[in-house]
Amino acid sequence: MASKCRRHQTLVSITTMVFLNGKMLPIEEANISVLDRGFLLGDGVYEVIPSYGGRLFRLQQHLQRLQNSLSAIRIKNPYTEAEWEKILTELVDQESAADQSVYLQVTRGTAPKRDHVFPAEVIPTVFAMSNPIAPVSEEILQKGVSAITLNDIRWDRCDIKAITLLANVMLRQQALDEGAAEAILVSHGFAHEGAASNLFIVNSGRIITPPKDNQLLPGVTRDLVLELAIEHQIEYEERPISENELLQADEIWLTSSTKEVLPVTRLNNTPVTNGLPGPMWKKMIELYRQYKQELRSGKHQGATD
Ligand code: PDD
Repeated sequence: MASKCRRHQTLVSITTMVFLNGKMLPIEEANISVLDRGFLLGDGVYEVIPSYGGRLFRLQQHLQRLQNSLSAIRIKNPYTEAEWEKILTELVDQESAADQSVYLQVTRGTAPKRDHVFPAEVIPTVFAMSNPIAPVSEEILQKGVSAITLNDIRWDRCDIKAITLLANVMLRQQALDEGAAEAILVSHGFAHEGAASNLFIVNSGRIITPPKDNQLLPGVTRDLVLELAIEHQIEYEERPISENELLQADEIWLTSSTKEVLPVTRLNNTPVTNGLPGPMWKKMIELYRQYKQELRSGKHQGATD
């Protein structure tokens, strides 16, 4: 019988050292079992934390959300806040880029066999890596991005930052296939968030974002935008956004740890107002940049601010 030649694709990663189950390892040496429940069942949660100038951005808020996600799926947090801070800081310090994005995930671990039911005794698998952040280019920020509305086909616990992202992956891909940067997810006549971002609109000078509930991820960037609004006396509302209101909004923004505050200037191939980033976005991005700058210079006490 002719032997089959299996070709292994060589993946060149930009990450060098990663953290896996208590050890810092070169990425090529970091392996997990094929029986890991993250791999087989998507049974795990994750976080994405930016780091600017070596300082982890809103670490406490990210670790609180991690704790909430772990509690929701009944996995005991493997580390204390101080231990997480040590691990993540060490990872960031190993890479040379000033601005990085730390990815961490905790799965329920490896069980002797595949079974939906939680195994009796299992040790969570903990993985973390850090990559340079590519800032959103000035050109994109000058023009804004396109988005489309899509039916929200996700589950009823979008507040959990679950690694099970199939619906988000499909929705985001559909947006890209249709020439848009993001899908804004709509169900029962209301817009909740993007496939990988939170949603804001501006109407008559007020910024509006949906309240935190099971239909959206409680974004750390979202919360910071609201804090900046309060601090700078910008009027805001946390309330449901109807699809009609979205379609008629003066401005639309998307927020996330990696994209920060992104102006949407075309929705479903129609310009949002005049098709350019609006005045409220300009104000908010300035405040956001100022906050980041202050973080770099230590004003916000780095990791634990
Ligand atoms: N995603 N909503 C969804 C569905 C998200 O996936 C994200 C972020 C956000 C924004 O959350 P935050 O501001 O805390 O980043 C909202 C990350 C970046 C990701 O999955 O890569």
